[in-house]
Amino acid sequence: MSDAVKIGFVPFSAAPKGVLVLFTDESLKFGSASAKILGSATELVKRAAAASRFKGKSGSSLDILAPAGLKVDRLIVAGTGKSGELKPEDYIKIGGATVARLKSGADAVTIVAELPTAAMHPADIASIAAGLRLRAYSFDRYKTKKKDDDSRLKANVSIAVADVSAARKAFAPVDSTTDGVLVARDLVNEPPNVLYPEEFAKRASQLRKLGVKVEVFDTKAMTRLGMGALLGVAQGSVREGRMVIMRWDGGKKGDKPVGFVGKGVCFDTGGISIKPAGNMEEMKGDMAGAACVVGLMHALAARKARVNVVGAIGLVENMPDGNAQRPGDIVTTMSGQTIEIINTDAEGRLVLADVLWYVAKTFKPKFMVDLATLTGAIMVALGTEHAGLFSNNDELSERLALAGRATGEHVWRMPLGPAYDKLIDSKFADMKNTGGRYGGSITAAQLLQRFVDGTPWAHLDIAGTGIGAPASDINTSFGTGYGVRLLDRLVADYYEGKK
Ligand code: BES
Ligand code: MN
Ligand code: ZN
Repeated sequence: MSDAVKIGFVPFSAAPKGVLVLFTDESLKFGSASAKILGSATELVKRAAAASRFKGKSGSSLDILAPAGLKVDRLIVAGTGKSGELKPEDYIKIGGATVARLKSGADAVTIVAELPTAAMHPADIASIAAGLRLRAYSFDRYKTKKKDDDSRLKANVSIAVADVSAARKAFAPVDSTTDGVLVARDLVNEPPNVLYPEEFAKRASQLRKLGVKVEVFDTKAMTRLGMGALLGVAQGSVREGRMVIMRWDGGKKGDKPVGFVGKGVCFDTGGISIKPAGNMEEMKGDMAGAACVVGLMHALAARKARVNVVGAIGLVENMPDGNAQRPGDIVTTMSGQTIEIINTDAEGRLVLADVLWYVAKTFKPKFMVDLATLTGAIMVALGTEHAGLFSNNDELSERLALAGRATGEHVWRMPLGPAYDKLIDSKFADMKNTGGRYGGSITAAQLLQRFVDGTPWAHLDIAGTGIGAPASDINTSFGTGYGVRLLDRLVADYYEGKK
């Protein structure tokens, strides 16, 4: 995890240092604390705004070096657009965009958390702080030479606020959630020679430090459970597969848990149905679902969420090999249902089939949500803006959509139904692992649904949102950490009384 920015809160009255960041909107006015700091420099800002046709639009800013009349090195005036229309998800972007403006060389930064109309609310300030950390993240563990053009930020950021203790209180849990996002990104960004199933299980085991109970199942244990689908994928690799069960019991004793399940294909070559070489390196990120579950468990445990949660991840490497499974093979899942393998590259659903069943049967969760970089087809349908949401439960779907809007981690519901389900019926087994050319994300979800045993369930296809999305205000790295903030919010809204 990178610690590029250190964040603290100070009162509005504190003297700003280094780089000063103020916010304005399309009125081009300033709030009272900002106006007080500016003092006679207000005139300078007005002239600079006129000279550069700055209109306070969202994403635009004024950048004034060595501003006369101020004891700071640089003044950035950032526009927020129409400040009355700012949504919760906008504040995190404001934080991220601020980091983008700072660049290297800024040791000290003061951000005044005020809009022209009023001081910002503690929750919005916390979002800005989270945005700062998310944007400042970079994965550079394997860069041995610091580049000259290194433009990454390393700074002490003071956020000036109306109420320091309220801001600290609001930020504490958000900071934990942000840690969880960065944990997930680190896992996704690690190279596949380093992060194979056994190593992944070791990293997940570090959650024990936060009070999470972690149980690791090896090949023998999974064989005993009859997890023939997961093991069928794993058998082509010299790296053994693992299943990891993580439990955070922060709720009432005996309360049924909620379940989160992640696809953890540490590398997906496609197996015998091998993928083309172009961009295959990105398939190190085929464990983004599992990374999200680990990041989420980190977040929930770190902020001591008052809820019982089970996190479950199926970890394998999908390789072509003399011992790899073949198209035509039939595997028997833990549920007893059989699956004919048509394409060994449709491996994620095989892994999830056994883990979903295990979680449904063992824990009887209130609901379960799985995350998986499952299909290229979901990227064709939804791009990188929405994860595909498939569910047997309208209420859970609605809650996920709301959490998506609150966090900016959006979901879009896709259909399920008997006509799609029929497409995976097989001549030789109970089902086959692909459903033909059309509706590829849906037939994948239909297979998963056959293993949830009636549990209220949602599947998030994060192939587009979890890895390789274009740089955004809050992320410039390959792994996005998508899903951690979404599901952390789902849990918060579900249990912590907002709804
Ligand atoms: N891991 C891939 C899906 C994927 C592709 C994720 C690109 C992220 C980026 C998955 O295992 C896969 O290979 N799916 C196949 C299914 C097909 C063989 C039915 C696909 O989408 O092509
Ligand atoms: Mn695949
Ligand atoms: Zn895959």
